[in-house]
Amino acid sequence: MSKVLVADDEEIIRELAKEVLEAEGYEVITAEDGSAALSKIAEGGIDLLLTDIKMPEIDGLRLIREAKKVIPDLLSIIMTGYATIETARKAIREGAYDYLLKPFNLVDLRMAVTKAFQRKRLEEENARLKQLTALFEVSQKLSGTVERDNLLNLLLRSAIAQTKALGGEIWLIDDRKPRRAAALGANLNLNGVVREAVHNGKPISISSKEGEVVFIPLISGRKVLGGIALGKDGTGFSQGDRELLHLLANQAAISLENSYLFSNLQDAYFSTIKSLSLLLEANDPYIKGHSQRVTELCLRLGRELELNEEGMETLRQAAPLHDIGKIAVSNDILHKREELNPDDWEAIKSHPIVGDEVLAPIGFLYRARKLVRHHHERMDGKGYPDGLSEGDLDLPTKIIIVADAYDAMASDRPYRKRLPNKRIIKEFRDNEGTQFDPLVVHTLLELLN
Ligand SMILES: [Fe+2]
Repeated sequence: MSKVLVADDEEIIRELAKEVLEAEGYEVITAEDGSAALSKIAEGGIDLLLTDIKMPEIDGLRLIREAKKVIPDLLSIIMTGYATIETARKAIREGAYDYLLKPFNLVDLRMAVTKAFQRKRLEEENARLKQLTALFEVSQKLSGTVERDNLLNLLLRSAIAQTKALGGEIWLIDDRKPRRAAALGANLNLNGVVREAVHNGKPISISSKEGEVVFIPLISGRKVLGGIALGKDGTGFSQGDRELLHLLANQAAISLENSYLFSNLQDAYFSTIKSLSLLLEANDPYIKGHSQRVTELCLRLGRELELNEEGMETLRQAAPLHDIGKIAVSNDILHKREELNPDDWEAIKSHPIVGDEVLAPIGFLYRARKLVRHHHERMDGKGYPDGLSEGDLDLPTKIIIVADAYDAMASDRPYRKRLPNKRIIKEFRDNEGTQFDPLVVHTLLELLN
């Protein structure tokens, strides 16, 4: 039942309003002045304040102001005579919902109160709908995100925006230890609290003079994956905020679990295909360790060149697999000591294409595939298999071209010994800009020094 407080120094008005509104099904309490009204408001539970303007000591305007400090979304209607109608307008500008002109009849009173409650319900429904729509959108995005950092950032950004928090953190459990995986906005200084909370897997709320900090665990099945912590100033988080955070956390936990499964699957695929590539080298003393060395050199060059994380990851995936297409080239050709004839060359030159095709069914290796296909291209367009030129080649590809060539020159071959360093350096100097990217060559030569 909605509760109405009637504040008026005239008893007859109080009694009249009480009778009419009780007949309408409201619970009605009354107060004969402003301070009596404030102490009833302090007890809580009031939905609508119906107040006179002119009362001794605390007038209606001040009463509304004080009351709003206790109940921020309190509805209020001010009762006024013609003489004080300007004051009533002021009250409305300050947030009173409506005014009622004295003397009023019963119909006016009933109408004003009904209208106020209808409006409030509408506003609440609107707010709820808006929240639900936002939540739905976030859920959609969360469930479509398997890349973990994107997922965490999305969760944190949404949680902060939806609850108007000052800042937040996401903690994940790695090897049974909580680790801060993402942070945004104000620094909450949560280490101690979070460690405890993550351990217990229970929600926590800590209120202080400055505001409130909440921690909501991310739980999938019975496993605590981590949790999200948020801080808000003032009176802290509303009940609506809390419900929303729990819904978000549930959705995020499912997506997070999916992302773990997904990356396990990726790792499994990757190790399988890497074993295949190692197997290819295992029986050949000349190329044994080649893909491992090329990988190490690629990553060193990538770091020196300050390649972004995406590029580094592509190198990490592509370099160990770059020659995997050689499974389709016969050993007789691969191990031939005499000079290769044109047919042999055709066969060898097919290996980047075969490599690309072998990896094609594995969706997440799509960036790596490009490097596998293009590790024998040249800046001047005279490479194979596609005759690409400088503008078509990205930095990770330019890096693997140099790293692969370096390791080939620095290892023994069936038909020659490894080249001396001096000769390798000359080879790179002579061919920078035509075969090799000059910046990558420059970086390699610095590393060799
Ligand atoms: Fe190759």
